[in-house]
Amino acid sequence: MTRRPYIVGNWKMHGTRAMLSEARAIDRAAQRHMKVEVALAPPYTLIHPIHREAEQIAVGAQDCHHAEGGAFTGDISAAMIADAGAKFVILGHSERRQGHGESDALVRAKAEAALAAGLRIIMCCGESAATRDSDKAVAFVKKQLKASLPPAEQMPAEIADKLTVAYEPIWAIGTGNAATTDDIAEMHSAIRALLVELFGEEQGSEVRILYGGSVKPDNAAAIFAVPDVGGALVGGASLTADSFMGIALAASEPFEN
Ligand code: PGA
Repeated sequence: MTRRPYIVGNWKMHGTRAMLSEARAIDRAAQRHMKVEVALAPPYTLIHPIHREAEQIAVGAQDCHHAEGGAFTGDISAAMIADAGAKFVILGHSERRQGHGESDALVRAKAEAALAAGLRIIMCCGESAATRDSDKAVAFVKKQLKASLPPAEQMPAEIADKLTVAYEPIWAIGTGNAATTDDIAEMHSAIRALLVELFGEEQGSEVRILYGGSVKPDNAAAIFAVPDVGGALVGGASLTADSFMGIALAASEPFEN
């Protein structure tokens, strides 16, 4: 794989304007690590301020509504986040699927809306601890991902540019317990096979598959050395420029894919 590693920070519900200095520091550091594509998904309220100042990093959102507009109090459409400067949106994060009851069908509708608004999407998937313990993780994730993605005929021509997949086992998120490199290798290779099946060899083999779940500067290099890992979706460790860029630095070492 020849694509640049993609390191995306998911700030979740963290960050007021006081955090803009951290975003600035991340942007400055990203200018020194051009071999890596660095991006940040802050809360909605910080998309525009970060976009206005950023010279290097892309800014994205953590969710969007599936409709173009209407009577949806409290919701935000894909066009609105694009208008605020977002270039991408994270969809189907387990905290949305679990905390907000988002089904695969709803996530897919959001993906279609986001692509129609010209956004790139980061489609999340991942199994619970119970599913992992019952040895059904690979089958579960393949089914979840397939049902959450629009079919090939509804994808834009440049699928590999518009779509990134993030494998995030729920039990690894925010726990300090990242998946083992063997588990990551097994899952990413299964996801790769599914992407090739869905979108063909040319596009399916180029879609980047990020790993997410307790990625830190000290485990990043080992994770990035796993075949078919194209970068990371980073929660807690993306909140400071030091730790986030420590991960980006690990990604700027030669990839083994
Ligand atoms: P974490 O979160 O890095 O804090 O585990 C990852 C995520 O939920 O995207």
